[in-house]
Amino acid sequence: MKRVWIETYGCQMNVVDSETVMAILCGTGGFERASDVRDADVVLLNTCSIRDNAEERVWHRLDELGALKKRRQGTVLGILGCMAERLREQILTERPAVDLVVGPDGYRSLPELLAQGGGVNTELSKEETYAEISPVRLDERGVSAFVSIMRGCNNFCSYCVVPYTRGRERSRDPQTILREVGELFAAGYREVTLLGQNVNSYTFEQVDFPELLRRVAAVSPLLRVRFATSHPKDLTDRLLEVMAATPNICRAIHLPAQSGSTRMLELMNRKYTREWYLDRIAAIRRVMPDCAISTDVIAGFCGETAEDHAATLSLMREVGYEFAYMFKYSERPDTVAARTMADDVAEAVKTARLAEIIGLQNELSLASNRRDVGREFEILVEGVSKRSSERVFGRTSQNKVVVVGRFGADGAEHRAGDYLRVRVTGCSSATLQGEVI
Ligand code: SAH
Ligand code: SF4
Ligand code: F3S
Repeated sequence: MKRVWIETYGCQMNVVDSETVMAILCGTGGFERASDVRDADVVLLNTCSIRDNAEERVWHRLDELGALKKRRQGTVLGILGCMAERLREQILTERPAVDLVVGPDGYRSLPELLAQGGGVNTELSKEETYAEISPVRLDERGVSAFVSIMRGCNNFCSYCVVPYTRGRERSRDPQTILREVGELFAAGYREVTLLGQNVNSYTFEQVDFPELLRRVAAVSPLLRVRFATSHPKDLTDRLLEVMAATPNICRAIHLPAQSGSTRMLELMNRKYTREWYLDRIAAIRRVMPDCAISTDVIAGFCGETAEDHAATLSLMREVGYEFAYMFKYSERPDTVAARTMADDVAEAVKTARLAEIIGLQNELSLASNRRDVGREFEILVEGVSKRSSERVFGRTSQNKVVVVGRFGADGAEHRAGDYLRVRVTGCSSATLQGEVI
């Protein structure tokens, strides 16, 4: 048995991909999971290229692992994921310690390549979805799992590497999705998050995304269903109606705006305007007034003026996001933006704008959390609080974390996977405090 250690960088899709890689390797009978990187025969880094700092972390980690490899002759070092796809040549020439370079669509070839001690496969596929492979779950809690429903992206937002590193968009057979979700529920899981770069464009034969969502939610009323990410251009009223009609589809939509300026959105090739985006927000509010809305924002994209930046801040206020992921623009080689636009916002200006965006979001998150104080929610318990062994934490349907006492009035312990009715008693901008009712 060879022991495999895998480290995951980047997005949730990479989490599932790492679990799929473990399933492929363990399925051969020749590999098992290592409990420590120092005992591993095979060390894999599943990497991300989305921003320069994501790649920097991996280069740095590679230096550390190169040193480890010197001490443990025979260890196979492999790079998987988006950096493998994007930087194959550079990795092979600059890091001789690397034995294996495999892109996101090549994981089925891993057993064969590892049998030879390494190799390269960065072929992208139009069909591969790893449909029938049930990922080996690496998170031990056993409550919440990611389920990949599609791969790739056809949107070509001008700043983004994903269409180049992940290839064309393709959807996974719904039968295999439903089977996997059924198995997860039977194994005690109580929440699944359906993943794709743009889940709204899921389509497989007669099944579109609202229909898939309905079928997944029908696996059990005790199973919570989430999904990410939705592209604003494809957020249909029918999706909102299916959500509203199905209580176990969570009241949370991640709808990345990227910018509040229509001029910027056009340069970004996002295919919607500020007005269109706000119309979608209004539709969500109309159909599900209790739905949380979160976003991604990029500060300092090519040509962004002070007015464009102000438009982003005003959009954020107008929507009143519950939560946001916020980034400085990082030019990615070979994207349309890198080829045709100047990365002309000074670093200091990007930093200042990002700080303003983060400051505003903290205000908005705190205001949203304050509105929840005194309200009742159902939470799904995920585990014991990191701060106190006397508390457990769980999430509301809106995806907010609530911390409550670990033991009930009768002394019984609240465990991961339990549903609890709670009243919110206090908050910070990041979490809610509550009591079980
Ligand atoms: N498919 C999803 C998000 C994928 S990447 C979507 O379209 O919303 C996650 C986020 O990273 C993006 O939403 C964007 O905000 C950010 N991002 C992507 N490329 C970037 C870049 N070059 N510089 C800074 N942020 C970037
Ligand atoms: Fe990137 Fe745009 Fe595709 Fe999202 S939709 S992965 S931002 S190209
Ligand atoms: Fe990163 Fe690739 Fe995901 S670039 S964000 S790991 S799709």
